[in-house]
Parts: sequence; C-alpha cells; structure tokens
Amino acid sequence: MKRVAVLISGGGSNMLRLLESMEGDHPARAVLVASNDPAAAGLAKAAAKGIPTAAVDHRPFGRDREGFEAALLRPILAAEPDIICLAGFMRVLTPGFVRRFEGRMLNIHPSLLPKYPGLHTHARALAAGDSEAGCSVHEVTADLDAGPILGQARVPVLEGDSEETLAARVLAMEHRLYPAVLRRYAQGDRTPLMLP
Ligand code: GAR
Repeated sequence: MKRVAVLISGGGSNMLRLLESMEGDHPARAVLVASNDPAAAGLAKAAAKGIPTAAVDHRPFGRDREGFEAALLRPILAAEPDIICLAGFMRVLTPGFVRRFEGRMLNIHPSLLPKYPGLHTHARALAAGDSEAGCSVHEVTADLDAGPILGQARVPVLEGDSEETLAARVLAMEHRLYPAVLRRYAQGDRTPLMLP
C-alpha cells in the first residue's frame, strides 16, 4: 500500500476527492494533509475524515524558503509518504525540496500545459480567445509547471464565459482527473491519461 501526503493551501476540493478515492482496492492511502496556511479550510475537512493534518505558516519565514521548507519537511518525513500530491498548494518549492521527492511528487494545474504555467490561467485562456481549456496533472520537477504530463482533461470555452464560470468547469474535471491519475501512478503506470 502506497502512503500519500497531500499539500494544500486553501479549500482543498481536489484534496478531498483524492482522500475519498483512496479506499477499497485503491493501491494507496492518505497519511497526511499539510498546508502552508494554518487557516486553510481543507485542513478541517481532512481532519473530519480522520486524516492527520499539519500546518506550517510560511509567512514568518519571509524570503527564507529553505527555512519554511525545513519546517514543512518535518511532519512530511514523519508521515513517511511514498507519494506527495500538491493539490492547490500555492508555494513555489525550491529545487532542493523538489529533488528530494523527484519521481514521486505530483501537481494539478488548471491549464492544458505547456500552455499557461503560473497564475491566472483562466483569465489568460479567455484573453487569448482559446476555444478549449482544461487541467493537467504532472510530475513536479525543478522547473515550474513543466514536469512530465501524467494526465490532461479538456473542457470547451463557452460563449459568455467569465473567469469564474470557466474555472468551475475546469475544476469539475480536475476532480475526475486527479484521482484517476493518482490511482494509475500508485500502480506504477506513468503513461498519460487523456480525458474525457
Ligand atoms: C485548483 O484549481 C488547482 O488546479 C489550482 O488551485 C485550485 C485549488 O482548488 N492550483 C494551482 O493553481 C497551482 N498552481 P482546491 O483547493 O479546491 O483543490
């Protein structure tokens, strides 16, 4: 059974879908949900499901990313995860942290990578007049949002879409894509999954 730690920064809807997927014959189980924000709403949701949680506030560390990551690393290493899932985790990780978990850390990103790495993906897709949008799950490497793609899901951009309506349509696909990719990944399958 693979042990999975999930890192979040906010509401944690993707995290919840991952937790809910890891039962029965699933090859992995959640062992920790950790956040850089002690007020992240997802922490209470994970705790309510009986999953251990940890919070390390990044703010007191200022620009000391290594210091923050060293503190975050403590509960992560204590949980002995085989796989780390970034799920709406909004801190950029240093190459040192990434290297430590290279080949076993996943991220979900709300665009069809390599399009629109970074922030404001939906606004950028709308501004570009794109006819489709989507989300990607990829392996985390030292280059931001650029690791090998493990899965993608597409949605249409509709007439009259706002950032909010497009984000909601993409998020619904994130909730399908991430659990499906994690299940395959935990079984050792790294071939890209394309939805729908
Ligand atoms: C999701 O849309 C995820 O793709 C995005 O943040 C949201 C988190 O929502 N992640 C990024 O933008 C990473 N750069 P959630 O907390 O409800 O899962």
